[in-house]
Amino acid sequence: MKEMSNNTKNMINPQALHYLRTLFAKEDTLVKEARERSVNEDFPIGVPPEVGKTLHLLIALTNPQKIIEIGTHAGCSMIWMARALSKEAHLYTIERSPDRLPLAKKTLSEFDRQDQITLCEGFARDVLPTLEDKGPFDLIFIDADKPGYLNYLDWAEKNIRKGGLIIADDTFLFGAVYQKNLPSRVRPSTCHIMKTFNQRLANPEKYLSIMLPSEHGLLVAQKLF
Ligand SMILES: C[S@@+](CC[C@H](N)C(=O)[O-])C[C@H]1O[C@@H](n2cnc3c(N)ncnc32)[C@H](O)[C@@H]1O
Repeated sequence: MKEMSNNTKNMINPQALHYLRTLFAKEDTLVKEARERSVNEDFPIGVPPEVGKTLHLLIALTNPQKIIEIGTHAGCSMIWMARALSKEAHLYTIERSPDRLPLAKKTLSEFDRQDQITLCEGFARDVLPTLEDKGPFDLIFIDADKPGYLNYLDWAEKNIRKGGLIIADDTFLFGAVYQKNLPSRVRPSTCHIMKTFNQRLANPEKYLSIMLPSEHGLLVAQKLF
């Protein structure tokens, strides 16, 4: 899991988290298997259940038809989102890692509506331009390399329709964006990128937005222009 237990201590009361996960965010078999696959392959990351359920709910509420995900990994968020897709909707999910692509492919192969998902192999910076002619898109979920977040926001500002959603995970950047001292794993340049990313999306003239206080920070923004 996305280093769930370590950060839980810092961000949210573990008992509260257990309570809400049990009551509101039970993972289905496919998501559980995707998570187990990623743990077995020593890449134990994937959206925590409450983030997955939030993505699912946002899709159910807004009925987006064209969706982009950056950072498939083993496919936990992909399945959470895909389960809320309406019949004609399509999800394009991008993964660069040759080690992780087989995990995502396995998850996708077990999904019953796999014709509604395209797994795009490669770096987001290369794949995104090839998808532009399928746009404008209704929703983008950014969950990949943090130094790339501003580039993904630039892309989203051009390719997400007015009224569409920009959602990004890990926007607390392990606490870096609000703590005085940088966590050792975070570079100053990456912290600057994430602070700028958050500031841009906090602009009320351009976005209706909030950062949800999940373990890692989940930013949800509706594009107003
Ligand atoms: C945090 S994980 C994504 C977890 C996934 N959303 C889930 O819930 O299971 C980040 C993933 O993004 C991929 N990634 C990182 N940088 C990328 C890039 N520039 N282009 C495409 N994928 C990238 C990584 O290989 C990794 O699998």
